Amino acid sequence: MKILAIMGSPRNKGNTYKVTRGVEERMKQLGNVEFEYLFLKDADLKMCRGCFNCVKNGEELCPIKDSRAEIENKMFEADGVILASPVYCENVSGLMKNFIDRFSFVFHRPRFFDQKLMVLATSAGGGLKETIDYLKKLQIWGFGTPVELSVITPPWPQSDALQKKNEKNINNAAEEFYQKLQEGRQPPNFMQYMHFRFLKETSKLGYLPADLEFYKDKGEFFYDTSVSPLKKIFAPLIMKFAFFMMRDMEPKS
Ligand SMILES: Cc1cc2nc3c(=O)[nH]c(=O)nc-3n(C[C@H](O)[C@H](O)[C@H](O)COP(=O)(O)O)c2cc1C
Repeated sequence: MKILAIMGSPRNKGNTYKVTRGVEERMKQLGNVEFEYLFLKDADLKMCRGCFNCVKNGEELCPIKDSRAEIENKMFEADGVILASPVYCENVSGLMKNFIDRFSFVFHRPRFFDQKLMVLATSAGGGLKETIDYLKKLQIWGFGTPVELSVITPPWPQSDALQKKNEKNINNAAEEFYQKLQEGRQPPNFMQYMHFRFLKETSKLGYLPADLEFYKDKGEFFYDTSVSPLKKIFAPLIMKFAFFMMRDMEPKS
């Protein structure tokens, strides 16, 4: 199994790397696992210019010429993706944020259905929940529910108790991730189904041509799967309510 670890620290061999290596070591004890590290600090991934072309008209029309598409291919080739970031001022690092911004179109047109996700954050003690909660939003890219790992790495020598606790958390998360990698595509949970229905419905407005094209032939979900009758009943009702609440956002006629 191939794991792509996308590293959001400007320090290649810092705390986030050490924690990710801990995950790698435990997973390698469990089975045949191969790790590749993609250090965003060294990657050819320029800053998003904010033109919105990728979301609106298609990612192939992004004016920036760099390795964004190659990074996407690496993600497709992996069975599991780890998004690892230090906490910077209560959230992900700038490197990780730019990576996410450059893949904005995937929030609209999810695609990583055959990959599992682990979200990993390290900090001196603060901001872990905020950072993990933010990274968890990337389950919308198609990954489904991620495995979470947050680790306190203070800028002073760790006590034995903290070290033991960290080792336990790292091993548990590695084991959970390894188990998850054995699963195939799952039927959507309610949020994933709502996300699909919402985007499919709004795509019909035609303001985002790339979305219109993407959703026009989609059936009940992004891929063939069973959707429970309860979800099919409740989703349109909640959507009706959501569209009513958002009525001010409708385009001016
Ligand atoms: C610019 C900057 C901002 C930081 N902000 C926070 C923060 O808000 N809360 C916190 O607990 N630690 C914060 N830290 C500490 C780092 O999150 C922590 O040392 C992390 O493990 C560093 O990972 P790295 O060695 O992989 O870069 C910050 C560090 C830097 C350099």
